[in-house]
Amino acid sequence: MQNWTPNSWRNLPIVQQPEYPDQAALKQVEETLSTMPPLVFAGEIRNLQSHLAEVANGNAFLLQGGDCAESFAEFNANKIRDTFQVLLQMAVVLTFAGSCPVVKIGRMAGQFAKPRSAATETSGGIELPSYRGDIVNGIDFTAESRIADPERLLQAYHQSASTLNLLRAFAQGGFADLHQVHRWNQGFVDKSPLGEKYQHLATQIDQALAFMEACGLTSETTPQIHETSLYTSHEALLLGYEEALTRKDSITDQWYDCSAHMLWIGDRTRQPDHAHVEFLKGIQNPIGVKVGPTTSTDDLIRLMDILNPDNIPGRLTLIARMGADNIEDMLPPLVRTVKSEGRNVVWSSDPMHGNTIKASSGYKTRSVNAILQEMKGFFQVHRAEGTYAGGVHFEMTGQNVTECIGGAYQITEEGLADRYDTFCDPRLNGEQALELAFLIADTLKEARGK
Ligand code: PEP
Ligand code: CO
Repeated sequence: MQNWTPNSWRNLPIVQQPEYPDQAALKQVEETLSTMPPLVFAGEIRNLQSHLAEVANGNAFLLQGGDCAESFAEFNANKIRDTFQVLLQMAVVLTFAGSCPVVKIGRMAGQFAKPRSAATETSGGIELPSYRGDIVNGIDFTAESRIADPERLLQAYHQSASTLNLLRAFAQGGFADLHQVHRWNQGFVDKSPLGEKYQHLATQIDQALAFMEACGLTSETTPQIHETSLYTSHEALLLGYEEALTRKDSITDQWYDCSAHMLWIGDRTRQPDHAHVEFLKGIQNPIGVKVGPTTSTDDLIRLMDILNPDNIPGRLTLIARMGADNIEDMLPPLVRTVKSEGRNVVWSSDPMHGNTIKASSGYKTRSVNAILQEMKGFFQVHRAEGTYAGGVHFEMTGQNVTECIGGAYQITEEGLADRYDTFCDPRLNGEQALELAFLIADTLKEARGK
């Protein structure tokens, strides 16, 4: 990795960055951040890397999900717990019904910065800078709120630290014990047919646990029953923040971005000769790249050459986000190229970002049908090409929101207004997410021949 340093990206063109009016204040905050404790440790990052290698080799499945954008206003313990809980439910459905180990990664504890389709937004004849996530500016449509404020970087860091602290406590302190599997069902899901389906599965797990206990495998003797791991991830968009949290590991002498376990490059920032690719190539974390309708096979080869020159399994996750109508045409040439070049990657499906539409009421939404269709297309393409469909990437929440239309409760366009709470893109609610998990489990079981 010649000439790479945590700040070598600064010499290259860069897109999607805020304009900070007070550069001196920005510099000072970045300096402060660089003295703060890392949020995650290199050893944990290496553990995730080896789990993802298992996914790349077809022996495990990746479940990645969380908010489109975390916010400062909606920061509380219940919300963190509810999202964690739905991820656990989904993972247990996939593990049990799909007979497949699941690697869980939250879009949590750092997913604040948003790329935007336009730098400004106009309303009532007034043009203001776009909202770029709470780590940058405020969502209110006022000139003051839209100023990029470096202090927000510190607030995001602290919020990430406390979110991660709670997630670790939940993962290791007994909440995620498999004996609790019945309790993870949210009140609003519990009474639905889907809730019943889940409770049925939970009862089967209880029986399996009772059998294992009779054989001497209990929560006390078997940590795998008592605790779990949830890794964190976000889009590496604000490179000043990422640089400040990048540290040299004393054991390996290599650089790790300690703001999260996994980082990904968005569809708008994956230019091979630009700053984001330069930054991510030098860190040892597992990294993701969004692969959209404009990604050519040449682009993809170039990105794989730069980001994973040693072809290490688990290093690179390609997150396809083509759109339900494009996936079956656009994904096969890319999958074929990766296969014929012998590249080790995890293929994951983000069935959200290619399927955003505007409802007639003006709300940005996605239909569960389109999401499902893209996911099915993703599995179908991999089956046809003889490659492994390794994971999914969802925007979701444990809350009972009404942001995506359809699903078991048939949220309609008119119903969107009831609880439309997102700070950016529309998320699946707890029930819609669980519904998809059951459907994926069936497909996975079939694909793995179990
Ligand atoms: C996202 O994941 O929130 C996102 C902006 O995705 P993409 O870069 O694929 O558009
Ligand atoms: Co989004």
